[in-house]
Amino acid sequence: MKIEYRDDDATFILENDSISYVIQIVKDRYVKHCYFGKKIRDFKGSCKNWMYDRGFCSNPDENDRTFSLDTMLREFPDINQGDYRHSAYQIESEDGDSVTRFYYKSYNIYKGKKAIAGLPSVYVESEDEAMTLELTLFDTVRLLEINLFYTIYRDYSVITRSSELVNKSDESIKLKRLMSFNLDMQDNRWDVMTLSGSHTNEKNIYRRKLGSDTLLVESSRGTSSPQSTPFIALVRPETTEKSGEVIASNLIYSGNFAGFVQKSQYGTVRVQMGINPETFCWHLNPSKTFASPESVLVYSENGLQGMSQTFHSFYRKRLCRGEYRDLARPVLLNTWEAMYFEVSEEKFLNLAKEASELGVETIVLDDGWFKGRLDDTSSLGDWVMDVKKFPKGLKYLSEQVEHFGLKLGIWLEPEMISKKSDLYQQHPDWVIRSNRYEPIVSRAQYVLDLTNPDVCSYLIEAISLVLTEGNIAYVKWDMNRHLTDLYSTFLSAEQQGELSHRYVLGLYSILETLNQRFPHILFENCSSGGGRYDAGMLYYMPQTWASDNTDAISRLKIQQGTSLIFPAITMGSHVSGVPNHQVGRVTPLKTRFHVAMSGNLGYELDITKLSDIEKNEIAEQIIFYKSIRDVVQFGHYYRLSDFTKQNQGGWQFVSEDGKDVLVTYVQILSQPAYEIPILYLNGLDPKANYREKGSGEIYGGDELMYSGLTIPRTKEDFHSTLYQFEKI
Ligand code: DGJ
Repeated sequence: MKIEYRDDDATFILENDSISYVIQIVKDRYVKHCYFGKKIRDFKGSCKNWMYDRGFCSNPDENDRTFSLDTMLREFPDINQGDYRHSAYQIESEDGDSVTRFYYKSYNIYKGKKAIAGLPSVYVESEDEAMTLELTLFDTVRLLEINLFYTIYRDYSVITRSSELVNKSDESIKLKRLMSFNLDMQDNRWDVMTLSGSHTNEKNIYRRKLGSDTLLVESSRGTSSPQSTPFIALVRPETTEKSGEVIASNLIYSGNFAGFVQKSQYGTVRVQMGINPETFCWHLNPSKTFASPESVLVYSENGLQGMSQTFHSFYRKRLCRGEYRDLARPVLLNTWEAMYFEVSEEKFLNLAKEASELGVETIVLDDGWFKGRLDDTSSLGDWVMDVKKFPKGLKYLSEQVEHFGLKLGIWLEPEMISKKSDLYQQHPDWVIRSNRYEPIVSRAQYVLDLTNPDVCSYLIEAISLVLTEGNIAYVKWDMNRHLTDLYSTFLSAEQQGELSHRYVLGLYSILETLNQRFPHILFENCSSGGGRYDAGMLYYMPQTWASDNTDAISRLKIQQGTSLIFPAITMGSHVSGVPNHQVGRVTPLKTRFHVAMSGNLGYELDITKLSDIEKNEIAEQIIFYKSIRDVVQFGHYYRLSDFTKQNQGGWQFVSEDGKDVLVTYVQILSQPAYEIPILYLNGLDPKANYREKGSGEIYGGDELMYSGLTIPRTKEDFHSTLYQFEKI
């Protein structure tokens, strides 16, 4: 890995064993993008960005009619100098003038990587594992500075990027747009992949041809949202799971974001991602700095698999933090689908007793446990135990749970407030709302104004009391509505455009404090399922409840989409009852288990009502899961079936040491003209042999990968099969 500056052609080269990223300074002032992709031994610039005198192209240098910023490949494009593609930043001074002239000023190259104050970002454990290039652009008239950060890691095909704007003048400015990165490319042979969906149907994979217009991926809901994901992948038309090039970007951010893919008039491609300018305007005072979130750019020459493998290992090892980064995650029983709001001490302890007999390790008391919470119309904000439902209190409950050999987890939805709550009576001004109108409700609740530090302090203290009193080992942190009525009585008039981003900063500061205070707690992120399943939240909470849809068949698609970016250890997945509560489908317990055990396994059904046969099956499932949990949670994950085929799901785990292999196949509907499915295994040692535990058969790794494994016919809908191989 190295970053070098080549003086003779003013070129920066960032490279490791697999990738190169090249930038050049032209005309002493413009920062040009030259290349990002597979490593180039000695970059000289054969693929020139030739410039011609073209119609309607402005010329910043009046003596050179061929030179236009509109046709140049740029690192961080502005507006107002004749580049009419999307700009990476936009400012406005008090007189309404938004014209700028930022020119390259200087660079700094150093070992390691800086954190971004107040925002999540990937990190290094030693200075030797990464290098950073900082490029400084300066507007000498306005006295504003832009810093661009590029970090290259030694061991990952990854470049991380972020930007900041520093106000060195004595005038305030409005910052209306500051993207985290911009990537221009000469080469436009790409399809575009994104992830979108809805509540209970998150992270669907979409792939389409790159059009001649702009593709926008965004959220303006206050969170990254179930509808969208801050992720864009450019994939070659011929790219498959196993082969072909991919350039993917993922933003480490949990609020409103926007990502653009734009094909220009002359065929160049521009990709950007950052805070959504639609809901953003930051008032930047003299001597203040505004930092963008960080974006991770991944290059893969080994198809989507290569991209996912890189995201998985990078996020697991350099984004997730804390004790649980490297600890096996417990088997849970969650009370939501078992009890909904019909929670009581007696029922809960009955569940806990039964759960401990089945081998569950942590029981999570979901919604409905706090003061007056009989349904979803009240009590959010009043984080004390409901004495009618739990007469002996939280401490007693926790002691009883421990007595059964379990740990206690608890559900919270801290960012919310119900109109029917003591907190609302005391602090109606703590709601995000305009005083001119009644705020819009969603799930009968309002959103707390996390831009106000008093609100954040209240939440930290109220939550700390619960966590301490209950000796809580696990928190499910929920968030069940999006932001409306974007006005804060706490912020000044000029700061109102900052609300959405400040909300996220407030949330991050609460989470950071709680992480520090309670390092032994496992935090699970949830927003009605995977509604905020993003890299930003992963920095504070190493796992996420992937979807409120617990149906095994619906989950195939959701978990597959999730797996594009996020490792299995970050994904909560539960076995629930049948008929399934979201879609009414009846699937075999075995299939529900096979799908749920491909993440962090939990159960979410009233186990006290199950037959002895079902209880025995669950007890055996848990014994099995514990025996292979390291393979799932710390191993490598491969998608085996083509996700465009709707009738099947197939995937595989290989343990970190390569010795254990799990292959799961799910048939959706049994078909009359059965086409024999073949799974081509992945990640095996072609020279080694593997024993299939069920049959005792031994196959070479090469055969399993190149000839494949066929799945015998079963005349049963929703049938699943699990194969376990060991390397011999
Ligand atoms: C939404 C979550 O996704 C569910 O699992 C459950 O916790 C409910 N909220 C509780 O209100």
